[in-house]
This record gives sequence, C-alpha cells and structure tokens, in this order.
Amino acid sequence: MSKTTARAKEPIALPDRASSAAGLAPALVRELSSKDRERLLAHFLSLGEDDRLLRFGQFVPNHVIENYVRTLDFDRDRVFGVFNSELALSGVAHLAYLSPEDGERTAELGVSVLESARGRGIGTKLFERATIRSRNTHVTTLYMHCLSRNKTMMHIAKKAGMRIERAYGEADAYLKLAPADQSSILKEMLEEQAAAFDYALKRQAQQTSTLLESLLPAELAA
Ligand SMILES: CC(C)(COP(=O)(O)OP(=O)(O)OC[C@H]1O[C@@H](n2cnc3c(N)ncnc32)[C@H](O)[C@@H]1OP(=O)(O)O)[C@@H](O)C(=O)NCCC(=O)NCCS
Repeated sequence: MSKTTARAKEPIALPDRASSAAGLAPALVRELSSKDRERLLAHFLSLGEDDRLLRFGQFVPNHVIENYVRTLDFDRDRVFGVFNSELALSGVAHLAYLSPEDGERTAELGVSVLESARGRGIGTKLFERATIRSRNTHVTTLYMHCLSRNKTMMHIAKKAGMRIERAYGEADAYLKLAPADQSSILKEMLEEQAAAFDYALKRQAQQTSTLLESLLPAELAA
C-alpha cells in the first residue's frame, strides 16, 4: 500500500487542544446559508490587509469582498462558520467544489479566523469540518492554495497530512481523502446538531439580554 493510500485511510482527528487548554468551550462549526450573508460580509471586512492577502492570495479591497459575499453560491459550495457569543462569525471556511476530472472530485478550501479569536483551535475545527464534508460528498482530494510564508496554515495543513508543493512563494496543499463511511456521516450529523443547539442557546441569551435592557430604566441600562 502506498504512503498516500495509507494516509487517506487514517481518520483525520486533530486534537482540540487550544480551547481545552485555555478553558474555553470547544469551537462548534455550523453550516451557513444565504441568510448569513450579512454576517459573512462583516467577518471578511474585519480582516486586515495582510489577512486578506493570506486568505485570498491577493490584495482585496472592500468592494471585491462585497461582490464575493454577494455571489457566494450556497447550492453549489458549502460555507461553514463558528459563531461567538454575540453571534458574529469568528471563523469561516468556504469549500468550493471544482469540476470533476477523470472521475476525481476536488474541492478547494479557504479559511479565515478573526485575529482576536486565533490560537484557540477554530481554524483547525473548520478545516476538520470541511474535510469530513468533502469525504461525505464524494470528494477525493481536498486542495488549498496558500502563500508559503503562511506558517500557521502550513502547520495545520502538515498536521493533517497534506502534501505540499511550493513554488515562487506560493504553496499548493493536497489531501487524499478516504471515502465516506458510517462514522464520517454520523460524526458530521452530530457536529451539526451540536452547533445548531449552541447557536440557538446564544440567540436565546442575546434575546433575553435585549429584553432585559428594554425593561430596565434608561439610567440602569446605560
Ligand atoms: C490560518 C488561520 C485560519 C488559523 O486559525 P486559528 O484559529 O488561529 O488556528 P488554530 O488555533 O486552529 O491552529 C493554529 C495552529 O498553528 C500553530 N501556529 C500558530 N502560529 C504559528 C507559526 N508562526 N508557525 C507555525 N505554527 C504556528 C499553532 O500553534 C496551532 O498549532 P497546534 O494546534 O498544533 O497547537 C488564521 O490565522 C487566519 O485566519 N489567518 C489569515 C487568513 C489565512 O491565512 N487563511 C488561510 C489561507 S486559505
């Protein structure tokens, strides 16, 4: 058995060390829909110039981001997010399905996490979720395009066993995926349910706090 085949059969289970070490709740990844466009826009516009360069591979002004978010195709691609307690998106992953070639299906992944939320395992969780969704939708290769200087993303990619090809300051990373099985399907289903529950709790907390504020006299609410 070749090294790549052996690697493809290994389960991808990156430890959720950062959040547990910091005593934070683990990042729960929820699949997004067209209803989340406004939050997606706020997320991408919050990225600084260098982060936009790392995420999109080029300098991206606001109007290009606006166009990107407006034209995201939620029927064709998959978009995942991690929400903070204010229901803003701390992290986003966009999984874009490329046209199949010789029966092989490839999906390209782009990930971003707000600077204030980094180092807590959110990027890793988004990567894992995109990987499992890829497997469960018959994708055979997960692909990422990064700048070679992107040490954090290179680290996540290498840890997941991606094969990395570098040229002219850029890097292409590939991961051969094992086919879906019962456990990958169940895992994704449970993760989505947990994330939906977490989202509902956060929304409830937000509504309760808005209600309390509206009931309090103005001088106490300030
Ligand atoms: C890359 C990015 C998504 C990572 O998000 P994150 O939530 O901070 O990632 P995680 O916390 O899951 O993991 C970070 C890992 O990188 C490691 N790391 C951090 N800085 C590093 C560095 N300079 N060199 C090597 N490894 C580094 C951390 O130790 C951690 O590894 P561990 O899990 O083995 O301890 C985030 O930095 C980002 O949005 N960058 C800008 C956009 C971008 O680069 N996108 C990727 C291109 S598509």
